[in-house]
Amino acid sequence: MKDLAAALGEAASRAFAEAGLEARFGRVTPSVRPELADFQINGALPAAKIAGRNPREIAAEAAERLRGDARLASVEVAGPGFINLRLTDAALAERAETIATDPRAGGSLVDAPRRVLVDYGGPNVAKEMHVGHLRSSIIGESLKRLYRFRGDEVVGDAHFGDWGFQMGLLIVAILDEHPAIAALVAPLAVVPPGFSEADRQAIDDLLTANVALDDLDRIYPEAAARAKADETFRDRARRATAELQEGRFGYRLLWRHFHEVTRAALERDFHALGIDFDLWKGESDVNDLIEPMVAELREKGLLFPDQGAEIVRVARNDDKRDLPPLLVVSSEGSAMYGTTDLATVLDRRRYFDPQLVIYAVDQRQADHFEVVFRAAVLAGYATEGELQHVGFGTMNGADGKPFKTRAGGVLKLRDLIEMVGGQARERLREAGLGAELTPEAFEDTAMKVAVATLKFADLQNFRGTSYVFDLDRFSSFEGKTGPYLLYQAVRIKSLLRKATEEGAEAGVIAIAEPAERDLVLVLDAFDHALGEAYDKRAPNFIAEHAYRLAQAFSRFYAACPVLAAADAATRASRLALSAATLNQLETAFGLLGIEAPERM
Ligand code: ARG
Repeated sequence: MKDLAAALGEAASRAFAEAGLEARFGRVTPSVRPELADFQINGALPAAKIAGRNPREIAAEAAERLRGDARLASVEVAGPGFINLRLTDAALAERAETIATDPRAGGSLVDAPRRVLVDYGGPNVAKEMHVGHLRSSIIGESLKRLYRFRGDEVVGDAHFGDWGFQMGLLIVAILDEHPAIAALVAPLAVVPPGFSEADRQAIDDLLTANVALDDLDRIYPEAAARAKADETFRDRARRATAELQEGRFGYRLLWRHFHEVTRAALERDFHALGIDFDLWKGESDVNDLIEPMVAELREKGLLFPDQGAEIVRVARNDDKRDLPPLLVVSSEGSAMYGTTDLATVLDRRRYFDPQLVIYAVDQRQADHFEVVFRAAVLAGYATEGELQHVGFGTMNGADGKPFKTRAGGVLKLRDLIEMVGGQARERLREAGLGAELTPEAFEDTAMKVAVATLKFADLQNFRGTSYVFDLDRFSSFEGKTGPYLLYQAVRIKSLLRKATEEGAEAGVIAIAEPAERDLVLVLDAFDHALGEAYDKRAPNFIAEHAYRLAQAFSRFYAACPVLAAADAATRASRLALSAATLNQLETAFGLLGIEAPERM
């Protein structure tokens, strides 16, 4: 479905072509002076330069041809040669009608859908989530939804960090702390003869009884700190990592337990934030691909020895900054972060064959991805441009450093949900909702408000920008906040409920008031915002649109009585406009990963 700018652009391009000028100069954009026009055409100026003619003359000629267009109430030449267009009320009403009856709320599909994989979240076993993971989850989820909405076939993968050095650290720390576990699993290099399901169950039970998520949360930082100070411990952990990767059976049993415990908790917390991965594949999933991959890299002459390790060189002569090589095999013989990433490119090729892979990961990993992508192209695993790092800045605390908890620790997802949820509950109680809703409905509303608070605060910024986490401001019901947006949607919902109670129905849309015109123009701009967000992989364009729409509705609602409209036809029209607004607002919310409650 074409928006007004595109539809008018076709007519204007024809007008330019008929005047013997290049059609591309007929591009139509929203007017920068809404009090003068709805749309404008700026192409007469560059067209005149090329033709060596007077721009006002060219504009006048194109304008003359456009004047016959029934959708246009006025076509004026202004200034040095701009063409200002104003639409008729009927044309706006017609466009509003299409949007109102469109299940996609005016958002179009891409011409050539692709298979797109979004790699986001990237939580790690045992290591705590930090703000980088949080932003990755929020931004990645939104991009996944946007690409899918526009017709691409999209798979979102958490790319669980479950195969690195942290696994070796956990293994040796647990063996040290629990002699009984060590006695059972440490000797198991391979599956022992006669090892039964019951034996496995006994080990699992012992692990479940002794190693819970809290234990991992406690043990990992201790072990990480110890490895820094204690070389022997570090070497043991390194060896354990390599042995795990080589398939040492006892370590695999431990690993599986760590993996399951962490993943279950993460899945629950992510879900509470409206973040759901299609795949929880991880670094470990590509383990078996690594050996043949290394052999192939060697065969292709891409692998070089380097101080006991093996690397792929990716630096180019014209590089502006020094890029390290890709470390493929460490001196202990283990696979590194970049190794699993490279093998993951191959794995994805096998099961999904993506045409585009979006890595929504912290900007600080830009070099890492550049190195991996270059190696992938060198090896023939991907074509140039097919792998894309979509980086972002950090969420900072008031001190300008990456956000930490009050106690100074990295923030845990669970604690963050608690903190933002607590704030939402407080605000809702202040608004008097505590008494109005059942406890379940109150809690559900508070979580929706909390999610909107957090996500809108993040997504309203261009992703490259860092921002300061200011919960007081983000959770306010006024201003450019998630709660404000939800509140506008809730207002429309209650208006529509009341209409139903009164037996008033939506009907044919007719446009007369300036606030109605403005609302339709904003509704019409949705598709353009989606296109920007899609092309720039930047959900802030959707957030911005949702905010504009909420504001336009607010002005419309203040200026144009709906239920108390002068006549039934006007009331029916305004109800239809309100419903269309709600539909588009909720569609935009869906793309941002937030949801409006029924009341708030
Ligand atoms: N687990 C990684 C980290 O914590 C993020 C993973 C990002 N995705 C990837 N394919 N490397 O930094």
